[in-house]
Amino acid sequence: MLIVANWKAYVESRAKAKSLFRAARRISSKLPKSVSQIVIAPPAPYLGLLAAGNKSKVRFAAQDISNTTGGAHTGEVTAAALKELGVTYTLVGHSERRAAGETDTTIASKAAHALAQGIIPILCIGEAVRDEDATYLHGLRAQIDAVYTTLTPEERAQVIIAYEPLWAIGKSAAEAINPVDLAEMILYLRKVLSTYVPAGKTKILYGGSVEPGNIRMLAGGSGIDGFLIGHASTDVTSFSALAKAVS
Ligand code: PGA
Repeated sequence: MLIVANWKAYVESRAKAKSLFRAARRISSKLPKSVSQIVIAPPAPYLGLLAAGNKSKVRFAAQDISNTTGGAHTGEVTAAALKELGVTYTLVGHSERRAAGETDTTIASKAAHALAQGIIPILCIGEAVRDEDATYLHGLRAQIDAVYTTLTPEERAQVIIAYEPLWAIGKSAAEAINPVDLAEMILYLRKVLSTYVPAGKTKILYGGSVEPGNIRMLAGGSGIDGFLIGHASTDVTSFSALAKAVS
């Protein structure tokens, strides 16, 4: 199980960033067998603060990455700069970035820039609503196709998928997906992915209101390889409870 803590913009002080990192280190140092890796995705300034000099088992993810290389690109954080900091993963195409106008083309380019520097993209996909005739499944396939068709077979093999239905993000455990629907979705996504990557080789994470109260239920039998956790990962007590619940 890969547990990725997406701090989003919830963390706005060095003190809080440091205390969450301490908790992540503590959990990582005695990782339960079922949790193979704790990854934290802090806001960029705290990524710089915490990733440089990290000697723990915790790994870092960027929340976003530039689709440019170095040069006259105000505000952009390039893959090379992140790589040098010790970043292992980056989210690409998070729904909150898509909502800010990011297109599939940009997302594909971001994934390629990450891979070119040896950073593993965690491609976030998800439907806004579920319609009865299941056209949302076509939308999910299109989000996958848009990125995978631009990559080489070697690159495709490295990409991690985070399935995050938008209707479940930022709510509570009661409003997250149920384990039966999740299992069905994972089967569907694995089928789509098998067009690009040998069957079963892609890691798929689930995200959307994962909390200590539902993480265990979602992990059991759904076929996922881990979680992308937002709000519940930004409180030391609940983050510790999340790791404990899947151990
Ligand atoms: P949430 O966010 O856990 O707060 O729902 C998940 C995400 O958007 O990555």
